[in-house]
Amino acid sequence: MKNKVDKLLKEATRAITAAASSRELDDIRVRYLGKKGDITVLLKSLGQLSPEERPSAGQAVNTGRKIVEKELLERKNDIESAEREMKLQEEQIDITLPGVSFRRGHRHPVTRVMDEVIQIFTGMGFSVREGPEVESDYYNFEALNLPKNHPARDMQDTFYIGEDTVLRTHTSPVQIRTMESETPPLRIISPGKVYRVDYDVSHSPMFHQVEGFMVDENVAFSDLKGTFVHFVNQFFGEDTPVRFRPSFFPFTEPSAEVDIGCVMCSGKGCRLCSSTGWIEILGSGMIHPEVFRHVKYDKEKFSGFAFGIGIERVAMLRYGIDDIRLFFENDMRFLEQF
Ligand code: PHE
Repeated sequence: MKNKVDKLLKEATRAITAAASSRELDDIRVRYLGKKGDITVLLKSLGQLSPEERPSAGQAVNTGRKIVEKELLERKNDIESAEREMKLQEEQIDITLPGVSFRRGHRHPVTRVMDEVIQIFTGMGFSVREGPEVESDYYNFEALNLPKNHPARDMQDTFYIGEDTVLRTHTSPVQIRTMESETPPLRIISPGKVYRVDYDVSHSPMFHQVEGFMVDENVAFSDLKGTFVHFVNQFFGEDTPVRFRPSFFPFTEPSAEVDIGCVMCSGKGCRLCSSTGWIEILGSGMIHPEVFRHVKYDKEKFSGFAFGIGIERVAMLRYGIDDIRLFFENDMRFLEQF
């Protein structure tokens, strides 16, 4: 028996030393110590020995088994730490490699100017309302004192979607929608896209406006004037000259266009201002009684002013851009400058 055990031990030790992976090692364990393993079989055969032979044979087999178990465990630890080491080597990160870089986006110049305009007006206590871009004839025209066949409808080259549905030509319909559902005092601005059939260096079929209006008791033209002088000073700088010029809009009476001193030539006269020294930036006026009638406001009790600022226009003046179409061509060479 002792010889058999010695022979098995020698074999097992050789196999264990040669094993290169935990997996191989596991096969060896099964071969010697498993249910039908060589050493297990020897242990089971002890029963067939005579009582005199049994103790020494039993001791030999058990010792052999313990040795194999110990060798297996030691080899297992060695292999596992080698495997761990290898994995660490494989997963080593070279921190000197250049990183993955992301292209950084930024806000479109129109959005930047829009946000800035909104901020100036919210700073004066105005709050924001929005309205739909696909608008009914009623809100875009009728309720703003522009009945069907009114000649002033031609002022706005309208995209018609249906007989009574248009792409809104201005943000003024939001005046009506807001006044219908809210009561004075109101100080509202409404930024958004508007659409007109027009396309050249200073016109785009889609552009942006910020509508603004205020309704309360005793709102006067001087409130309109003070509001704009403040806006222009904030947006274009403290000593930008502002002037009000009489104009016409069906939904305001009286109406005024607001000009600022030309930003290019500082009033000396250039191509941009057609040598006048002034540039128009918005339309405005006192809200017409007909508008109040449509929203059922008492025109004896309330008065108000309204205005519409063309955002691309003020953005062009701010950044010295001479073609409105640049805003919408998505040329990175243009956009990256902002
Ligand atoms: N809605 C006018 C336009 O688009 C601007 C405007 C708004 C004028 C409010 C007066 C009052 O031209």
